[in-house]
Amino acid sequence: MNIKKKSIVRLLSYIKPYWYLVLLSSVFGVLKLILPLILPQVLKYFTDTLLISETLTASEKINEIIKWLMILLMIYSFIYIPAAFLRQTCAMQAGNRITHTMRCQLYSHLQKMSASFHHKNKSGNIVTRISSDVDSVYTFIWNVATNVWIDFIMFVIYITLMFSINVPLTLICAVAVPLSVIITKKIRGQIYKASKKVQNNISEISGYTQERMAGFATIKLFNMENYEINKFNKYSEKIYCFIRKTNRYSSLGEAVTGSLSEITVSIIVCLSAVYIVKDTMTIGDLIIFYSYLGYFITPLRRFAELNLAYSKSIAGIERVFEILDTPIDIKEKRDALTLDYNAPVNINFSHLYFKYNEEDENYTLYDIDFSIRQGENIALVGSSGCGKTTLVSILTRFYDPDEGSVIINGTDIRDYSLKSLYEKMGMVFQDTLLFSGTIKENLLYGKPNAADKEIEDAAKAANAYDFIMNTPKKFDTLLGERGIGLSGGQKQRIAIARVFLKNPKLLILDEATSALDSESEELVQDALENLMKDRTSIVIAHRLSTIVNADKIIVMEHGKIVEMGNHTELLEKGGRYFELYNMQFKDIIKDHNNFDCK
Ligand SMILES: Nc1ncnc2c1ncn2[C@@H]1O[C@H](COP(=O)(O)OP(=O)(O)O)[C@@H](O)[C@H]1O
Ligand SMILES: [Mg+2]
Repeated sequence: MNIKKKSIVRLLSYIKPYWYLVLLSSVFGVLKLILPLILPQVLKYFTDTLLISETLTASEKINEIIKWLMILLMIYSFIYIPAAFLRQTCAMQAGNRITHTMRCQLYSHLQKMSASFHHKNKSGNIVTRISSDVDSVYTFIWNVATNVWIDFIMFVIYITLMFSINVPLTLICAVAVPLSVIITKKIRGQIYKASKKVQNNISEISGYTQERMAGFATIKLFNMENYEINKFNKYSEKIYCFIRKTNRYSSLGEAVTGSLSEITVSIIVCLSAVYIVKDTMTIGDLIIFYSYLGYFITPLRRFAELNLAYSKSIAGIERVFEILDTPIDIKEKRDALTLDYNAPVNINFSHLYFKYNEEDENYTLYDIDFSIRQGENIALVGSSGCGKTTLVSILTRFYDPDEGSVIINGTDIRDYSLKSLYEKMGMVFQDTLLFSGTIKENLLYGKPNAADKEIEDAAKAANAYDFIMNTPKKFDTLLGERGIGLSGGQKQRIAIARVFLKNPKLLILDEATSALDSESEELVQDALENLMKDRTSIVIAHRLSTIVNADKIIVMEHGKIVEMGNHTELLEKGGRYFELYNMQFKDIIKDHNNFDCK
């Protein structure tokens, strides 16, 4: 089965629970389309019988006409309106429900995806899938799933009625219809290809735009506006070209099927005139046949549009399925164990190897082997890019190691449930992203059911209370999309307060103060020290002066551990740590001297 068919079959499984809505919509759709067929019959009756009758008087004829007007008015007010209403609401309701199911499924799947997935996919790209691609389902239900039945049934009804009037004329129509369908089918293939490219590029461009808008300051400061504008123009031009291609194909489709139907009509009109001359058809028959032909063309034309709607929507639906089919690479075992929240934390990194991409030549982490005992304060140091963040990302299971393992309390972390693992950990990163919402909502992320008193205590311990009380609405102050309005140090202190509320047994700090100026660094450092009290901790620090008291300092270089020991031991050893420490120390002395000179 090809991919398109597979997607349709799969989509049908989503439609199945709402089959009754699709059925109702189709039934009412047929009813809605059958009702207009009555009018040509009345017209035939008027032309062939009533108007030319020699037995009826003029007033009797008028009474008959008024009677038929009343009947038609009744039909169009009391049957047509509810039928049209139900046709539309049922289809939309089905589409809406399926879209809702898929949207939630997609979001829930995205929440389970690993860090590597989110690194590889731009967030804007994913956002498009949740918004416009999921909406393709709606188009599909509305235009494809329900219309296809309605059009098919109407087609059969029209052709039967037309055969009953005149066989040769109907046969001409029966040739023209498949011909038109074949032509549009050919064109459809081309539209499908081009529209898939359009959608891919649109999601690419929205990811790109989102990223560049967020980084507007960098663009401005580097004077890169023109460069960015050119780059964007190229992106947009690509989309323009693909859309032009789709448009050409769809216009060609429209033109060909349009002209085909006009040719058919011309032949029919002239031929029926001949039949009338030969007396094998009445004028009423011509009127009725001609009107039916008008209706008959509608499903025919719609088939062409249906193809377009089908191609467009199926491309979007496929992209949704593509995400749903991306396997969750960091998974919990079925019979996952629970890591006891209260148990002491003893961690062993055992001969761990890891690389981000299989094709990478060197390991990002190479034979990492060390242990952390309950209550210990471990520091990870090493130059930028040596693998410190990667190491803690394995502990937090953002990635799984290629070889070796991380063992907590005698069990591989991959055997624990993610929930129990994360309950035990708290993290503060270099860049804290606060979500839009109030300060309180952001803090409650640490403990959703925390009482106000607990929140205040956490804020105090994190040196955040004073500045929060100075904001306009205190804990209820709204933060912008990215916590705009707060300084880096303030954001960091909110992040720390959030971890206080979470009260984890194991604390991981990844360069939590490195993006801050020295004044806010002091406040944050102070808050971090409060947080570290009585907890096992792993600290990645850019400033070595903050970790001199660590129980164990692990020095890394190019993904390997090169030294391990406490501050005094490592300085005595005179190795890499000694080198790093001296480098920073020299900088401090230099700064100090410069200050003196002034
Ligand atoms: N998501 C990623 N995909 C591929 N390579 C990565 C990724 N993150 C980091 N790296 C690479 O892995 C190495 C270690 O990075 P990292 O652990 O962040 O270093 P550190 O935290 O010590 O500065 C670097 O060479 C970096 O370029
Ligand atoms: Mg890092």
